[in-house]
Amino acid sequence: MIYDTLALYYDALVKDDQATLAWVNWIQSSLSPCRVLELACGSGEITQALAQRGYQMTALDQSESMIQQAKAKKKGDPIQYLCQDMRNLCGLGNFEAILCLCDSFNYLLEPQEVQQFFLEVHDHLTENGLFFFDTHSLDRLQEFQEEFNETGHIFDVDYQWSITSEENYIYQDFAFYKEDGTVIEEHHMQRVYDPAWLIEILELYFTIEKITTDFDQEGIQEGEKYFFVCRRK
Ligand SMILES: C[S@@+](CC[C@H](N)C(=O)[O-])C[C@H]1O[C@@H](n2cnc3c(N)ncnc32)[C@H](O)[C@@H]1O
Repeated sequence: MIYDTLALYYDALVKDDQATLAWVNWIQSSLSPCRVLELACGSGEITQALAQRGYQMTALDQSESMIQQAKAKKKGDPIQYLCQDMRNLCGLGNFEAILCLCDSFNYLLEPQEVQQFFLEVHDHLTENGLFFFDTHSLDRLQEFQEEFNETGHIFDVDYQWSITSEENYIYQDFAFYKEDGTVIEEHHMQRVYDPAWLIEILELYFTIEKITTDFDQEGIQEGEKYFFVCRRK
């Protein structure tokens, strides 16, 4: 499964305290401490930062390895971690806010899945609850037409990370070269959706409170990510 291997190296590759602070400030600008469900929490960096600011966090991820990474850094914060698919929230109850942050939504590959996902989120929010998520921007498709390549060494491995795009998809390929000669690879596929279509589907279940590009540019503009804050109808 994706992230089984990457989980071990995820923080070393992408952890960024400044970015975590930006995510937390973005949430806090629209939401006071309350009961929050975070979907696809990964290694729990944002989860933990929110818990430290007084949010009551339940956080899930489909990767057991990512959940283990998150649990390992728990510093006494009362966070409930679950290994679960975000497309089925059955049995979790209702929350005042639901989050799906930092490139996690992009793993929903089919338009029908997206619509079902929005409905599932809607059904697990309390009345007037808020849904925060981000997506790749359309500009990313253009950007990765030229392959991105990064190589390096972390812990006991050399690695290669490449990103390319084709049609509506972004492909991320990781290879980890172990000292004993084995190579472990992970191939990730992510989808990029037209924001106009997302807005149309979102409005079936939510009132859109705010859309920005890259946190602070109002509306859909040139940039890397679109950020949505939506209120349950
Ligand atoms: C780019 S990481 C982001 C993790 C975290 N949100 C962060 O801010 O670092 C994407 C995460 O989405 C998770 N994921 C992908 N599809 C999922 C699904 N259907 N249900 C739950 N988690 C999923 C992966 O396991 C991975 O941890």
